Amino acid sequence: MSSVDSQRRILSGMRPTGRLHLGHYHGVLKNWVKLQHEYDCFFFAADWHALTTHYETPQDIEQSVWDMLVDWLAAGVSGNASTLFIQSQVPEHAELHLLLSMITPVSWLERVPTYKDQQEKLKDLDLATYGFLGYPLLQSADILVYRAGQVPVGADQVAHVEITREVARRFNHLYGKEIGFEEKAEAAVRKMGKKAAKLYNNLRKTYQEQGDSEALNTARALLQEQQNITLGDKERLFGYLEGGGKVILPEPQALLTPDSKMPGLDGQKMSKSYGNTITLRDTTDEVSEKVRRMPTDPARVRRNDPGDPGKCPVFQLHQVYTDEATHAWVQEGCRSAGIGCIDCKKPVIDAISTELAPMQQRAKDYEANPDAVRVILAEGTERAREAARDTLAEVRQVMGLHYRP
Ligand code: TRP
Ligand code: SF4
Repeated sequence: MSSVDSQRRILSGMRPTGRLHLGHYHGVLKNWVKLQHEYDCFFFAADWHALTTHYETPQDIEQSVWDMLVDWLAAGVSGNASTLFIQSQVPEHAELHLLLSMITPVSWLERVPTYKDQQEKLKDLDLATYGFLGYPLLQSADILVYRAGQVPVGADQVAHVEITREVARRFNHLYGKEIGFEEKAEAAVRKMGKKAAKLYNNLRKTYQEQGDSEALNTARALLQEQQNITLGDKERLFGYLEGGGKVILPEPQALLTPDSKMPGLDGQKMSKSYGNTITLRDTTDEVSEKVRRMPTDPARVRRNDPGDPGKCPVFQLHQVYTDEATHAWVQEGCRSAGIGCIDCKKPVIDAISTELAPMQQRAKDYEANPDAVRVILAEGTERAREAARDTLAEVRQVMGLHYRP
């Protein structure tokens, strides 16, 4: 745990897929924008992860990374409120990935559900590679190198956070042992002073005897505020709480992002591979055109045929973009043929255009001033490397790799 407050630290990444769409915005970015004011957030472009599947087309990566980062910034993710960087600019991820690979059973990786699933799904790519098998372990390194306690991800990524926990546990079990640990921990408890020591001991007992996670959290908070013990002692006491040795790599938790309900133009989930997206950079004309071409309830062939909003993807967009009164207006007007589909689409087009306008202005500003983006990334990379170096120093040490020149 060392000096970082893991519970406050958040890490998440996204594979660079180029320009983002409303599904990314409503599903991920809006959440990041909120989290960045509440936590110590690290967000990065997972370009190495992109290579695990698309190693045959590396020429696309740079542009995809750039477009994605500009879209993050356009959506309101901020280089001041959070730490933004590109994975491959922080080589510590790779070093930790290598070191973790020493202790990770191949079978753990083979049984991660995404391994077989993705191989099935991406049949035209040869994914029988070492790098692809290691995808979740690289992700573990991404998380553990910052000792992030919380990882906002969608349901499809929960298995990757789970394996990260297992790897961390194994690592701490193997390398968190220290000669005379118990005695040192007891001595550290006393150094906190009578009152805090008593509280710590009670909370530890409650947690260990009853598995009370409330007690665990309270004890962690108590440790976090201690001023008069060393970082080394603090780490010991974090480990001692849970009964083990030192916690070198804390186990992260998935912060499940509610599944984006963002429907695409055809009513399926919005996704680049379905070709049903509205991108964050679509102009008002493009948005209008796309929405106007959307299919509606097939029963409404003529203007005076009544329809059913329940059978229409446009109504799904109303759920995201318009208020209750408008929904009632659609329900009534559609069922009675009182409104036409063009009328019905109008408020959706307006709401999307209004939502996108400020983002597009920001995207334009950043595109016109790419150096501003580079500065944000340079600063983010520096902050990220600093945090990552601290972890690696400790990892090298416990793995027998600290040499004195
Ligand atoms: N695998 C994630 C995805 O496809 C991206 C990712 C890479 C990530 N490293 C991460 C997400 C670390 C969270 C934490 O969406
Ligand atoms: Fe769909 Fe609206 Fe047309 Fe009804 S009126 S079919 S909800 S677009």
